[in-house]
Amino acid sequence: MACRICQAAVVDILDLGSTPPANLLKSTRDAEQDEYPLVLQWCDKCGNVQLRDTLTAEELYRDYLYVTPQSSMLNTHYEYLSGFLKQHGYLDENAFVLEVGSNAGYFLEHLKPSVRRILGIDPAAEIAAEATSRGIPTTADFFDQRSAALAVEEHGKPQLIAARHCMAHNDSPHEMVAAAASILDDDGCFVIENAYVLNTIENTEFDQVYHEHMFYYSIRSMKHLLAMHGLRLVDVTMSLVHGGSIIFVAKHDGAGELAETARQYEAREEISLTIPKFEAFAQRTEAIRESLRELIGNLVADGQRIDTYGATAKGNTLLNYVGLTDAEIQRCVDSTPAKQGRFLPKSSIEIVSEETAAADPPDYFLLTAWNYREEIIAKVRNSGNYKSKFIIPIPFVQIV
Ligand code: TMP
Ligand code: ZN
Repeated sequence: MACRICQAAVVDILDLGSTPPANLLKSTRDAEQDEYPLVLQWCDKCGNVQLRDTLTAEELYRDYLYVTPQSSMLNTHYEYLSGFLKQHGYLDENAFVLEVGSNAGYFLEHLKPSVRRILGIDPAAEIAAEATSRGIPTTADFFDQRSAALAVEEHGKPQLIAARHCMAHNDSPHEMVAAAASILDDDGCFVIENAYVLNTIENTEFDQVYHEHMFYYSIRSMKHLLAMHGLRLVDVTMSLVHGGSIIFVAKHDGAGELAETARQYEAREEISLTIPKFEAFAQRTEAIRESLRELIGNLVADGQRIDTYGATAKGNTLLNYVGLTDAEIQRCVDSTPAKQGRFLPKSSIEIVSEETAAADPPDYFLLTAWNYREEIIAKVRNSGNYKSKFIIPIPFVQIV
């Protein structure tokens, strides 16, 4: 097995067993699903962390139901990100912004009043059509050199290309980076946002590992990848979304130098991305499994009712690795209408609406959408539910 960025040899660092793809919700409780291993690997040559076994887009997205939630935390994030880009001269009002993997188009919608032109490109046809009807022009397509060339024919070269939380969702990022490099304006910026491997490791976010996440980017691996396509990393900034994310800013080689702040993060990676640190990460992961098993086991034996909150991909990794099913957990609460009435993969827990949960609150919520912790707890309390306690699984098991 080789590194899918630089082709060097890799070593295994974490094994979470086998699960079905985390976003393939079942339409009946007993539906059969294929399971695939979740094993992480490390490439010491380029600093890449990757998933060993990858699935094709067809296997992963055939029944894809992810729609970005309407979240105040995400709106604050869009505010921060656009502010950062403007302050540092990476974005101005004359820019044509192309967003890859734009989903429902909320980030473009946020940018629309302050830039010259926007375009989204996303393979999920229904979501793209819906975004277009809301005034966010979105092409239903994969982003590659062919679709990139078509976009340029119609709209000209983009001054900013954004790829937020989608560069890990393909077994090779090379086509996407090559496509971006081929159409980016001479002084334009390619902005990539992704969960940051340092947060994943340091905060024991083993539940970030699922089949859609084929790469766990570091500054080192991103620099390496960009350089292979004539691009250069010039800046990074950090954000709290999705459990700790990094925003990489790249330009054409020769159009800028790496900022000093990025060098400081790079130095941290030297210390934190090492085999002993990965071993400690794997041990903390097992410790979370043991304490959750014990806690939930005791609560169930005590006659307590437990629901999970958030039909998230990370929640499915967590439930299936810990070994929790509809035998212990009654329901999974989620605000996405398309998910309600379906069942979580493997654990077979039924998904219900937030209103259903509010009408009949459980004793405990296991917060599987812990990245929206403050927002969800406030929402539950504001709905008049002061009864349910929250079990937060990550970075360590605690009850609040
Ligand atoms: P994500 O972490 O992949 O963005 O998924 C978040 C999931 O949590 C999504 O399915 C919607 C759900 N959710 C709620 O049910 N209520 C909420 O208030 C928020 C913010 C998210
Ligand atoms: Zn490598």
